[in-house]
Amino acid sequence: MDPATPDRTSRRDLEEGIERDFTRKMSYGDYLCLDQLLAAQRPLSEPPQHDELLFIIQHQTSELWLKLLIHELRSARDLLRGDELAPALKRLARVKHIQHTLTDQWSVLATLTPSEYAEIRPFLATSSGFQSAQYREVEFLLGNKNADMVAVFSHDEAARSALDALLHEPSLYDEFLAYLSRRGYAVPAGLLARDWSQPYRLDEQLVEVFAQVYAAPHEHWGVYETCEELVDVEDNFQQWRFRHLQVVQRTIGQKVGTGGSSGVDFLRRALDLTFFPELYEVRTRIGQ
Ligand code: HEM
Repeated sequence: MDPATPDRTSRRDLEEGIERDFTRKMSYGDYLCLDQLLAAQRPLSEPPQHDELLFIIQHQTSELWLKLLIHELRSARDLLRGDELAPALKRLARVKHIQHTLTDQWSVLATLTPSEYAEIRPFLATSSGFQSAQYREVEFLLGNKNADMVAVFSHDEAARSALDALLHEPSLYDEFLAYLSRRGYAVPAGLLARDWSQPYRLDEQLVEVFAQVYAAPHEHWGVYETCEELVDVEDNFQQWRFRHLQVVQRTIGQKVGTGGSSGVDFLRRALDLTFFPELYEVRTRIGQ
């Protein structure tokens, strides 16, 4: 071939230095434990249903991202406890990207038709995302405490005790309020030493504190920015709930869930939950 003529073969030659022998060296698969990870998809349908793998992988990838969310949220909370606001915000930036990924991936499962799901459903028996311990950990970390959820894990001592510990610890929002108090903001004392296992209730005095922040953002920039980051996190969480609801609706209509709830109606009621009520309430007061 004329050396001036480009070789149009679609092939990339491997470079000399590229590692090829992993008999004594750590490979990609070794580091990531891919043997275990890729052996963990075990469809149960009989005869085998093509779409069950999608169903399993969508749940498993969600659980992996939830694991990272917990890691980042715990860290953000601990950083706030140590008055390290900027690094805490960095953590929340990552949290928001993970949430976007989780929400975007609903479009993959939305390709599952009701007829396809009906073929898998008998094999799911009583299992349901409602029993996701990691999802509850995220909810507890953000402040949506519900002691009744802990009992759902009494069959799994590790999950039950991890969730029970989080139930009794301050949430990310509780730590933010403690941070504000240390910075001289008039956070009501009752919010700083309460029973953390109880559901959070809106506090009128705290709305006033935030009203002052939002009235003069430049004087309270770090706090103002953190408030908006928290609203982003709640907004993203609600988007995930809404997409789940929509996928459930198009897949099972008004049928009851495998976990025993009424299904869509039960899920819709979660859209009324809020993690940071004062940060929403203050919006009505701005500019008044
Ligand atoms: C076609 C797919 C899906 C259907 C039909 C479905 C259906 C449902 C239903 C009916 C519930 C209410 C509890 C029950 O009675 O079972 C529920 C709860 C839940 N599902 Fe799904 N789901 C699907 C996919 C997923 C995926 C991929 C995840 C990702 C982890 C997930 C996570 C959850 C969570 C966390 C809850 C609890 C929500 C809450 O307490 O508000 N679901 N699901």
